[in-house]
Amino acid sequence: MFITFEGIDGSGKSTQIEKLRNRLEKKGAHVDVYRDPGGPVVSEQIREILLNPDFEIDSVTELLLFSAARSQLMAKNVMPGLKDGKVIILDRFFDSTTAYQGFGRKSVPLQEIHNLNAIASHKRKPDLTIYMKLSLTDAKKRMAKTKDRMELAGDDFFEKVIQGYNKLAEREDRFFTVDATEPVSKVHDQIWQCINSRYYS
Ligand code: TMP
Repeated sequence: MFITFEGIDGSGKSTQIEKLRNRLEKKGAHVDVYRDPGGPVVSEQIREILLNPDFEIDSVTELLLFSAARSQLMAKNVMPGLKDGKVIILDRFFDSTTAYQGFGRKSVPLQEIHNLNAIASHKRKPDLTIYMKLSLTDAKKRMAKTKDRMELAGDDFFEKVIQGYNKLAEREDRFFTVDATEPVSKVHDQIWQCINSRYYS
């Protein structure tokens, strides 16, 4: 089973991922969690470049670096894990590229982003994508004071990213949307009910 979490910074993905991991492990599942960009050393090093606020990165270069980091994560960790029957949970995946580089930066036309996403993901789509929906106003209350290169993008950018996610959520059947302003335990219950009904009953 391949589950991804999406949403803008501050939507509470990490907390929900840990709660889901514990719940799945109690059911006897072998669970591996990775962040995208991240995981294998090559992807972690690309992540450092991407998030370093000292670097000015061209928008197409940014798109390709996120894709390169993802391809390595798929090849080294995700595909082998799925083959071994593990549950793989990713903190972000190619929907982040569609929302941030496609809708936010508008670096290249969306169709080209979709094509690149298919290449970088080795043509593997998530079985389920949990979208932690949050407004920019609510996200700003939660954002860390020290900002990485992506978080330094302005309000207009983040509004476009949110619109992008909302469009994806409407279009894609694999999306399950939760209201990220709800209490942590309530959000977890909703996510668990979704997974339980699809995979364990
Ligand atoms: P995070 O892992 O701490 O959420 O940081 C990753 C940042 O990179 C976050 O601001 C979202 C952004 N991002 C993209 O712009 N495109 C992508 O494809 C991915 C995976 C993340």
